[in-house]
Amino acid sequence: MTNIDLTAKIETMDSSILANKRVLITAGPTREAIDPVRYISNHSSGKMGYAIAEKFLDLGAEVIIISGPVNIQLQHPRLTVVRVNAANEMYLACCRFFEEVDIAIFAAAVADYRPGKVAEQKIKKDENSFTIKMVKNIDIAYEFGKIKSDSQVSVGFALETNDEIEHASGKLQKKNFDMIILNSMNDPNATFGYDTNKITIIKKDLSKKEFPLKQKADVAKDIVKEITFLLIKQYQYETLLSFE
Ligand code: CTP
Repeated sequence: MTNIDLTAKIETMDSSILANKRVLITAGPTREAIDPVRYISNHSSGKMGYAIAEKFLDLGAEVIIISGPVNIQLQHPRLTVVRVNAANEMYLACCRFFEEVDIAIFAAAVADYRPGKVAEQKIKKDENSFTIKMVKNIDIAYEFGKIKSDSQVSVGFALETNDEIEHASGKLQKKNFDMIILNSMNDPNATFGYDTNKITIIKKDLSKKEFPLKQKADVAKDIVKEITFLLIKQYQYETLLSFE
């Protein structure tokens, strides 16, 4: 198959292009317990990660979502969803799959810190104020970046409020991502909870590609295409080339 045929297959989201390939996606928020009834979390809806999963399923891939608590039900014969709460649980669930996946996408909004001590019983409001000492959580993407092989593609997300390109590029390098997807909090109708998103993709060579505001499903399509092209370009994707 020529490169032109391959490009066409990816552009049309041909359902066989990623057959036998495995994709791990972290999605949604994490919940870090304070006591048996309270937790610290964030506004992540998980929509972006799940939309990406759907597109990879359309391309014939097997997908594993390690999901924080979200209101999304997705079912597919080639989909495994592992539901978790805390960052530590998310990391342990990822560890079960890291070695055997071809692509890892870190779309979860993982809490950077957790309460150092989880109260065994519900905390009573006896005091006028109280302090929670937070300790750092494991960085799942960073850990994967340390062990990933040359044939594995790693993709991260960065949600920034300022100096967006600089911060996202720093994360790309620190976490050994092949590509990072930047969302800016300064873009209206993008990010948390919206059905639309506006992204900039930064690759390892620090080249940048800006996309207009789109529905999350269309953004997912752009992301999945970029990852698939990257897989071919970066790792001489022989299996794909054998599709005649
Ligand atoms: N990430 C992760 N595990 C963490 C924190 C982040 O896997 N404990 C992943 C996210 O899923 C995302 C990328 O790392 O793909 C960047 O996450 P972000 O929260 O923007 O970066 P941080 O390194 O936490 O930096 P900061 O919060 O200081 O901006």
